[in-house]
Amino acid sequence: MAEPTDRLVEAFTTSFPVDRRLYPYDIAGSIAHCEMLGRERIIPRRESQRIIAALRQIEAEFASDSFQVQPGDEDVHMAVERRLIEKIGAVGGKLHTARSRNDQVALDLRLFLKAETANLLSQLQRLRHVLAAVAKRDQDVILPGYTHLQPAQPVLLAHHWLAYAEMLERDTGRFTDCRTRLDVSPLGAGALAGTTFAIDRAYVAHRLGFRSICVNSMDAVSDRDFAVEFLAAAAITGMHLSRLAEDLVLWSSQEFGFVELPDAFATGSSMMPQKKNPDVAELIRGKTGRLYGNLVSLLSVLKGLPLTYNRDLQEDKEPVFDSVDTLTANLSLLIAFIPQLRIRRERMRAAAAAGYTLATELADYLTNKGMPFREAHGTVGAIVQYCLGEQLGLEQLTVPQLRRFSPLFSSDVKQWLTPEAAVRRRRAVGGTAPANVRRQIKRHR
Ligand code: ARG
Repeated sequence: MAEPTDRLVEAFTTSFPVDRRLYPYDIAGSIAHCEMLGRERIIPRRESQRIIAALRQIEAEFASDSFQVQPGDEDVHMAVERRLIEKIGAVGGKLHTARSRNDQVALDLRLFLKAETANLLSQLQRLRHVLAAVAKRDQDVILPGYTHLQPAQPVLLAHHWLAYAEMLERDTGRFTDCRTRLDVSPLGAGALAGTTFAIDRAYVAHRLGFRSICVNSMDAVSDRDFAVEFLAAAAITGMHLSRLAEDLVLWSSQEFGFVELPDAFATGSSMMPQKKNPDVAELIRGKTGRLYGNLVSLLSVLKGLPLTYNRDLQEDKEPVFDSVDTLTANLSLLIAFIPQLRIRRERMRAAAAAGYTLATELADYLTNKGMPFREAHGTVGAIVQYCLGEQLGLEQLTVPQLRRFSPLFSSDVKQWLTPEAAVRRRRAVGGTAPANVRRQIKRHR
């Protein structure tokens, strides 16, 4: 090109401020590539060694924040190469033999995501352990379970926590799958068609810790499905954490009063002195919007692209970085937050018995005595209506009062009408009975 790029264009197209973050992976990729060039005698070994030594120094400059960016540094790849040539002269220009920024950037992003997926997997495991630990600590606490946000049936608090542990286990599965498909090296695809040099792709992939290599160079430089998959897994995990956060927002409200937030994780109001707000849980819920947005953003970037590389692909990094940071923060906060919640067990226990949550027990009682369940459901409906009229709780009814609705009632009914009994009787697999829950606590720990 005869004329220099317009300043506006330079500013518009640069990605350095964003992809600077890839420097450790970019340099690791370059070192492995350069080592291979030397081994295969594509460039002299001594030159390969000089390049590698300089790359190590450049990495140290980045790490110590002393790397000087120049106006022409379009992206992290160009910046590193510019600096390399500055340091060791024209020989630095040999590093890019048999390589293009197209396979280089695909490599960097895969390496980055491999590392971050490992971090997220270990955080997911920690959060599951935290949930299992609080479940174990509060094994006998009972609260109402809800459907439609109406009190439905008593459950163990541990069962509620472990529901999230199950979700996180599936999230772990999604990130693990994603990591398997990430674990393929695109380096050696060149710009799009492969390279004429006799490179050893398998060696480079092995040095960088990849399990295999992409076998179609056009696919290698053009697809970002691995990043979409990562963003999808992050969005789903975010959705789970957001629901957990929402439970904490509700539970910490005056109306529920099931938990008290630790002071260190709550905020006051600038105006109302009595307030203790669940901002942390709310932000975890709120930041989930980013995780969805990032997924849709990358899918939209990709959908109309002709093969192979198009500059649109440069827009893949911000959503990926943002989802990594958002999900990492949401997980760290919950890991620290949950063990410090003060559980108000007496409030939970009182709510578990209120609101006719034991109506199903009465229906099950009648069913056990031989009445068809559908009929029992109707009979108990009438009993609840009666109680509402008389402002009575189910447990306050006497046996003679109950017998007016069905002769099947006898004195043993009383032992059915406690939240503890309701929980204990749900012994079928998956139910909230203490023995089941203990088994699941063990499994998640
Ligand atoms: N900064 C670019 C990106 O992130 C690197 C690849 C540039 N390749 C190209 N042919 N312009 O996608």
